[in-house]
Amino acid sequence: MIAHKVKAAYGPFGHGKVILFGEHAVVFDQPALAAGLSRGLEASLGPGTGRLTIPAWNLELAVGDDSPVARAFGAILARLGVPDVDIDVDVRAELPARAGLGSSAAFSIAIARAVAGARGHDHAAVMAAATDAETIFHGTPSGIDLAAAATGEVGRFQRSTGWQAVTVLQPMALCVGLSGRPRDTRTQVEAVRRLRERTPVVRTVIETLGALAGDGERALASGDIDELGRLFDVAHGLLAALRVSTPELDALVHAARAAGAIGAKLTGAGGGGAVIALAPGHERDVIQRWSEAGFQGFVATIGAPREIGPS
Ligand code: MEV
Repeated sequence: MIAHKVKAAYGPFGHGKVILFGEHAVVFDQPALAAGLSRGLEASLGPGTGRLTIPAWNLELAVGDDSPVARAFGAILARLGVPDVDIDVDVRAELPARAGLGSSAAFSIAIARAVAGARGHDHAAVMAAATDAETIFHGTPSGIDLAAAATGEVGRFQRSTGWQAVTVLQPMALCVGLSGRPRDTRTQVEAVRRLRERTPVVRTVIETLGALAGDGERALASGDIDELGRLFDVAHGLLAALRVSTPELDALVHAARAAGAIGAKLTGAGGGGAVIALAPGHERDVIQRWSEAGFQGFVATIGAPREIGPS
């Protein structure tokens, strides 16, 4: 707990996140609900020549290399006025990359915080630099991942109004299951945009996904876990209607329900990535069932950003 607070308040740290409701709908200015994770990315700076290392991802690169991560790194340095690139950055990653858990936003926030801290920039400059980086990763991000990465809270996000922390009656354990297939947010967002243009009824699906965020917020505030589980199931069905689910994500959702979950859904952009399941008292059963089916998972607590242990 204390470690989390120190990281959130002062450290060059970016939180991972899960989206509870409203992914994809949030791109079209519908509300969404997200929860920061205590797992994330932490950056440390030293004198150097513009090298970036992330040992957990086997990644080593330099500013000027032609990869999205290198371009995002360069964009943060440029925005925060490090033209002579006289630093190296090392990042400790506690999240898998491209798993739908907000690793790119956590990356952008952690590095922007580290550089801004060293150069005396404020929070607005951090968010501007991290937004430049997220745009390189994802094209037209809504901003929800960055808001969750910066705060680590449970919050409601809407493009036009921004992030607002929400009340959670009691901390809640969530099972997070990894499909093992990388997701590509940019591709998924563009596919949903095309589907919405071609097929007008998809607008109603998107509005309903936004309405679920309001229902979910009320269920969180009143501690109505059963209702939350039912809403997860509805959300997964609607996201499948947007064609962002996959056989692996569906398998994870069905396995969670078979192991006692009261609701499960994909989280984030889909097309790969992760699912979340609500299974009060059956968390270990869900993780076990996933493991038997060849999927990794862990249990996270939301509403009190502290994880209760890896599987
Ligand atoms: C990705 O975590 C969430 C999406 O809604 C994209 C975005 O909001 O930028 C799919």
